[in-house]
Amino acid sequence: MTRTNLTIIVAAGTNNTIGKDNKLIWHLPNDLKRFKRLTSGHNIIMGRKTFDSFPGLLPKRKHIIITRKKENKNIENVIYVNSMEEAIEVSKEDPNPFVIGGGEIYKIAMNYSSKIELTRVNHQFDGDTYFPEINSDNWNKVSDEFNEIDEKHKFSFNYETYEIKNI
Ligand SMILES: NC(=O)c1ccc[n+]([C@@H]2O[C@H](COP(=O)([O-])OP(=O)(O)OC[C@H]3O[C@@H](n4cnc5c(N)ncnc54)[C@H](OP(=O)(O)O)[C@@H]3O)[C@@H](O)[C@H]2O)c1
Repeated sequence: MTRTNLTIIVAAGTNNTIGKDNKLIWHLPNDLKRFKRLTSGHNIIMGRKTFDSFPGLLPKRKHIIITRKKENKNIENVIYVNSMEEAIEVSKEDPNPFVIGGGEIYKIAMNYSSKIELTRVNHQFDGDTYFPEINSDNWNKVSDEFNEIDEKHKFSFNYETYEIKNI
């Protein structure tokens, strides 16, 4: 296994919660805008359950869906694969593919990625899916930007960027 140019992008509560009942728990429009800005034009690699939670395809992005099922039907901008290695292989033309979740796929991606774009939502949520602990032996926090509560954002949140150390 080798680390690649993969970036994990995730939003997590203070207790690392990322979702409940196959849904997001909060609504933070500025974080969604940032997600769109960073991922547009790139491959987005995700687990089959996260894909199922979307109302439709995200524009200007190629969806790489990881599943154990065989014989999936690829359509325009949707490619099914059976492993993270295969997801990386089909993304090799993209200089900056993103892993966008969920819990099972983040756990695998921690061993393949070199960057994490974490939105830390400053609240403890009740959920059923979690982001793995970021081990400071392996990751450097290289930036941290605080965003206040306002009329559109019920919780404050931080944009935290991590890069892999030379390990
Ligand atoms: N806050 C955030 O930033 C964020 C981002 C994304 C998702 N989420 C949340 O996360 C939750 C979904 O996460 P989840 O952990 O339940 O599911 P998930 O990681 O999205 O998808 C799990 C599925 O991935 C496939 N899979 C997992 N490991 C595999 C492997 N080793 N090889 C091949 N396929 C594999 C399986 O698909 P098959 O069953 O088809 O075989 C499995 O059921 C939702 O609540 C969603 O809203 C949050």
